Amino acid sequence: MSVDISKFNPFDPATMQCPFPHYAKMREDAPVMEIPGMGIKLVTRHDLVMQALRDPQTYSSQFGSSGMPLPAEIRKRFEEVYAEGFPRVSTMLTADQPDHTRYRRLVSRAFHPKVVAELEPTVREITVRLIESWIDEGQIEFVTEFGVPLPVRVIAKALNVPDDRLDDFKRWSDDSIAGIGTNISIDERIQAEYGVNEFQHYFAEQINKRRTEPQNDILTNLLNATIEDDDPEVSDKRQLDMPEMLSIIQQLLVAGNETTTKMLTEMIRLLAENPDQWRKVKEDPSRVERIVEETLRMSTPTQGMWRMVTADTELGGYPLKKGDRLIIVFSSANRDENLFSDPDVFDPDRDNLRDHLAFGKGIHFCLGAQLSRLEGKVALEELSKRLDTITLPDSNKYEYFPSFMLRGLTSLDLEFTPAGVKA
Ligand code: HEM
Repeated sequence: MSVDISKFNPFDPATMQCPFPHYAKMREDAPVMEIPGMGIKLVTRHDLVMQALRDPQTYSSQFGSSGMPLPAEIRKRFEEVYAEGFPRVSTMLTADQPDHTRYRRLVSRAFHPKVVAELEPTVREITVRLIESWIDEGQIEFVTEFGVPLPVRVIAKALNVPDDRLDDFKRWSDDSIAGIGTNISIDERIQAEYGVNEFQHYFAEQINKRRTEPQNDILTNLLNATIEDDDPEVSDKRQLDMPEMLSIIQQLLVAGNETTTKMLTEMIRLLAENPDQWRKVKEDPSRVERIVEETLRMSTPTQGMWRMVTADTELGGYPLKKGDRLIIVFSSANRDENLFSDPDVFDPDRDNLRDHLAFGKGIHFCLGAQLSRLEGKVALEELSKRLDTITLPDSNKYEYFPSFMLRGLTSLDLEFTPAGVKA
């Protein structure tokens, strides 16, 4: 397929459906390339993406205020909504060192690997309950009936959100990502910010409750997290204040829900399209982790992330100026033919399976990687145990969400036979 990258438009519907031929051409011809007319540069080669991730001083994550400047009148409308909530502060994902180090230290204590590992029975219980709710139907729309509810319920459980607030919780999660890499109107963005205020007030109340009634949960851990007095890397030893805690909780939703939904949906699509792999994983459940990793490589949910250049420099011989805005394209790096042979082939047996950058690298490496890997593993263990055949009916249109930052199917019809039942 011949593509013309000189007219590349990340918002073009056809490109959003399948950007990979464009990325392949960019890796070959212009691995640091300005998007025509947008003043944003894309970094698409694996080695250059790594170089940027390893140098957070030069490639800053403080891109929160780097969006397109808004007219004063619209800015005022946003400020009016913000005034009704807690201050929106930049934490982990959008912070640089040394602030980032302080946040990461405090949050890592609340989100310790042991805390995540202890969630396995919860993840399994939620997974099994979901599967059992539709196992007799023979077909489902996978995104709404599995891909969305699994991560939302897991993180809600981890944050101790009661079941009767689950719908609100999902809505707040959607509101939090409304403006990321999509083409929605200003009115829709403002509406979403009202939802973020609602989210803030709910969690502020929950955190305040834990000041007098601590619980064994992430909210209490965040409230009580401290920096060691002798920690040499963090001079600002303050505990998290309320706006910081709210920002961090919001990030767990923003960074965690949609991404994991997209991973789960792509995993089942890839397996339905590769029946030999489905059969193999059914026969040998120890293959689940390989399948999860190869799904992350092939169908990277977080396609790209912003960086701001802090000093004149060059990347792979391409000059960059202080203030340049970049998107480092993880999904392109993950198909770099210099690292992955036959990069467009789904091959869970490749040797360097874990060299993908789906969770980033360096100081911003995904805080939720362990949790989403756990969800992928448990989901596939239970699905492959309980479903016999899986097929994709002709009703599927395979439409991807209109976003160039997060990539995933809007819906996926799946037909199946339950294990033990003849097709
Ligand atoms: C398949 C699922 C997921 C994918 C593909 C993914 C991807 C990523 C990527 C690429 C980054 C690095 C961003 C950068 O370098 O700027 C990141 C950071 C982050 N992720 Fe994830 N993520 C996933 C799931 C989760 C989950 C489940 C959570 C939390 C519950 C989470 C929380 C975070 C947070 C808080 C950060 C920021 C870390 C920092 O800046 O230090 N993610 N994620």
